[in-house]
Amino acid sequence: MNQKSIYILGIESSCDDTSAAVICNGKVLSNVVANQEIHATYGGVVPELASRAHQQNIVPVVQQAIARANIKKEQLSAIAFTRGPGLMGSLLVGTSFAKSLALGLNIPLIDVNHMQAHILAHFIEEENAKIPPFPFICLTISGGHTQIVKITNHFEMEVLGETIDDAVGEAFDKSAKILGLPYPGGPLIDKYAQEGNPKVFKFSKPKVGDLEFSFSGLKTAILYFIQKKVKEHPDFIKENLKDICASIQYTIIEILMDKIKNAVKQTGVTHVAIAGGVSANSEIRKRLQLAEKHWGWTTYIPKFEYTTDNAAMIAITGYLKYLNNHHSNMAITAQARLKVTE
Ligand code: KG4
Ligand code: ZN
Repeated sequence: MNQKSIYILGIESSCDDTSAAVICNGKVLSNVVANQEIHATYGGVVPELASRAHQQNIVPVVQQAIARANIKKEQLSAIAFTRGPGLMGSLLVGTSFAKSLALGLNIPLIDVNHMQAHILAHFIEEENAKIPPFPFICLTISGGHTQIVKITNHFEMEVLGETIDDAVGEAFDKSAKILGLPYPGGPLIDKYAQEGNPKVFKFSKPKVGDLEFSFSGLKTAILYFIQKKVKEHPDFIKENLKDICASIQYTIIEILMDKIKNAVKQTGVTHVAIAGGVSANSEIRKRLQLAEKHWGWTTYIPKFEYTTDNAAMIAITGYLKYLNNHHSNMAITAQARLKVTE
């Protein structure tokens, strides 16, 4: 007998990407992402501009996702949307659109926690995809979060440690800003670092708890270092950009790898995943692959398109919730602050 096809539409609008995706029985049929370039010139996301851009993008992005999936909206089984965490104005656009569509089609509405979704993107079914067994640990690294999470079940998660100040994505973006690079600077640091020498400049690692992170001291150290060097030699950044980027990236990735090692040691769990925008970073991906050989871990590195914000991760989480009958009430509201465990 044929398995019934369950089609889930996912909608993501928590920050500055408007995205919609359709998943059928765990497989991605479409994943459309509209980036908002408007923020680059401001050096960061401007909340009011983000929510306005979501309003402009949401209808065409959802239409494209449904068209590319080659289905009709009447075939959808449920609508999953990002409830939080994120920018309130941005979240409201996706939340109200998802509610109206679910109401119009008379199908279930499913709320999704954005941070859980980054982790659960590992359950998207694809050819050659490695799906983590329970329990596994996941380093969730994005523009707003830096956490080590132990996952014992799809919806049972425990935060083992997190940042006490900035998120690692912020560390990348703020360092890039100091160097005069546009927002988001993380991918640019990664790009220049690939041609630079990581051992040229040395930055010290913060002294915090075994599973805690801190990046604000590093950012200040980089700022003072650059200010001093530029004063001595105005072309310092231009002439050393690749080595500076490689050195900053090396320090940040060393910090992340140290913490994963500590988490593996403390938990005895050797199935290790990464998730979130910073998991797109080429160095962390490389280092994690090497860890398989060196330390015998089994590592789970998301496909590039499921690292930064995307709706496929929202749709897969919606699918897993749908299978468990976790539907939402129409009275549900967006939540700017939401823990990964909520
Ligand atoms: O998960 P995400 O798309 O949005 C949030 O939920 O925050 O993460 C965005 C963050 C930004 O800080 C961006 O600079 C960083 O991910 N990022 C990277 C790379 N690609 C994206 N950081 C370092 N290297 C990259 N290749
Ligand atoms: Zn994210």
